Amino acid sequence: MQVPFIALKRQYDMFQQEYEEAVLRALRSGWYVLGNELQTIERDFSAYIGMKHGIGVNSGQDALILAVRALGIGPGDEVITQSNAFIASVLGITENGAKPVLVEPDEYFGLNPERLEAAITPRTKAILPVHLYGQACDMEKIHAIARKHGLYIIEDCAQCHGATVNGRKAGSFSDIACFSFYPTKPLGALGDGGMALTNDDQLARKLRMLRFYGSEVKYVNEITGINSRLDEVQAAVLGVGLKHLEECNARRQEIAAMYTSGIVNPLVKLPQVRNGCTHVYHLYAVLCKERAALLKHLEACGVQAQVHYPIPPHLSPCYADWGLGRGDFPLTERYADEEVSLPIYMGMPDEEVRQVIDAVNSFAG
Ligand SMILES: Cc1ncc(COP(=O)(O)O)c(C=O)c1O
Repeated sequence: MQVPFIALKRQYDMFQQEYEEAVLRALRSGWYVLGNELQTIERDFSAYIGMKHGIGVNSGQDALILAVRALGIGPGDEVITQSNAFIASVLGITENGAKPVLVEPDEYFGLNPERLEAAITPRTKAILPVHLYGQACDMEKIHAIARKHGLYIIEDCAQCHGATVNGRKAGSFSDIACFSFYPTKPLGALGDGGMALTNDDQLARKLRMLRFYGSEVKYVNEITGINSRLDEVQAAVLGVGLKHLEECNARRQEIAAMYTSGIVNPLVKLPQVRNGCTHVYHLYAVLCKERAALLKHLEACGVQAQVHYPIPPHLSPCYADWGLGRGDFPLTERYADEEVSLPIYMGMPDEEVRQVIDAVNSFAG
């Protein structure tokens, strides 16, 4: 049997009637941008995370770019993020002309609070923790450091819809939290989408203007903005996804528990969950020193696996002008060399989970 890395159609089939009713409702409304469906998902998703305002945008990438811009961060400013971040997190900073300052992650793949203070300079304006793979960074410590130094926090929540830290949702610890609704995410649209969340009325107003050419009143452009809006069809689809998010996260957690108890291969290191955190397993990320051989073995066993991410930002050709190279962030480079993501998603059947476990356990190096 072939085990796909992800099969979005399976989740679609589970909630097909609801998705189709929602899409038809949006189509038949005759109103396709900035309408009732958007208002509803902005209200419901921000309430779910525990934030006052939600501002729907085109993508998680746009949420990040506009969050940095809304906070007035630009050339001459520094934003601290983790060196194993996905490229979009770093692009959110550099697209505004600000400088990313990278720090190595901790053993949970999150921003390491122990390394944070040493990276703060008089130019630092914000900290941008990336809740990679579905587990939040150590937000209580990061929050305390941000408060001590008067820094903003921008959370990259693209992979962690519903994850918690001591009962509090990831995305509720920041000045602005940025979510992606890319289809594979724990809460995914059937196309691109994203949302910025904030508790601050002024920041919410600014974000709304930034996504709408810089205007609050049509054709009155107070600031320079862009066009980045979550459309009505995707907003309607997300309403269905939000209703089932906890159930989908529970299935991911169930699959993760099967992997964690079933995989017993000493060549493969399993992901750790920090005390007090709930992990929503956007990805089940294992580490293996002989990654190429493991990937080949999994393929031979019919299991599709992926790598997130093979090239860290500091080694990406687009940032060659930083002058950084191999050896500058050894832990990040190790993760980039050893990480393997196993299939995990709503609708994945138990027999496929067992096939993955058997395939990993039969890897002999
Ligand atoms: C950590 C992280 N940040 C940002 C993004 C960007 O989101 P989008 O694909 O919606 O632009 C992603 C999506 O892949 C992501 O995984």
